[in-house]
Parts: sequence; structure tokens; C-alpha cells
Amino acid sequence: MHEPQPETVQIHINGKSVRVATGSTVAVALTLTEQACRISVRHEERGPLCAMGICMECRVTIDGVPSRLACQTLCQPNMDVRTHG
Ligand code: FES
Repeated sequence: MHEPQPETVQIHINGKSVRVATGSTVAVALTLTEQACRISVRHEERGPLCAMGICMECRVTIDGVPSRLACQTLCQPNMDVRTHG
């Protein structure tokens, strides 16, 4: 007996294809692929911290728009995510 497969969505993070469950945030995709969102002024990797749109640590460029919050953005098909921007 086959279990129903969850629907997935494919996005691109720094040019690499990543498939996550539909309804996942970009922060989830970044965490699953162990990628930092950005580099701080002290050259430290930064990633999602609060996951509720307050800390601003999860800023990435999405479809060419900088400083989007990964934790507040749902993955959409073929979304282009750029980190370290
Ligand atoms: S993780 Fe804090 S604003 Fe996104």
C-alpha cells in the first residue's frame, strides 16, 4: 500500500535546486540544506533565529528583491533565493 506523498515545491538556492514540502518557508529550505542566510559585518554566518519576523537575521534576496525575510516567505515554484546578499 502506498502512502500519499506530500506535495513538494522546487526552488533554487544560489543556483542549486532544492525540493521541499509545499507550505514550507524559505527559512525551512535554508535550514534543510544547512545554508546561512547572510554574513554579518563581523564575517559570521547568520541564519533564522526567531522565525516570526522580528530579528531580521534571515534576510535573503528572493527573485531579485533584497532583504526579504526567509521565515515569512513561503516557497513558490522556481523561486530564486540568493544568500549572503
Ligand atoms: S528568523 Fe527572525 S525575522 Fe526571520
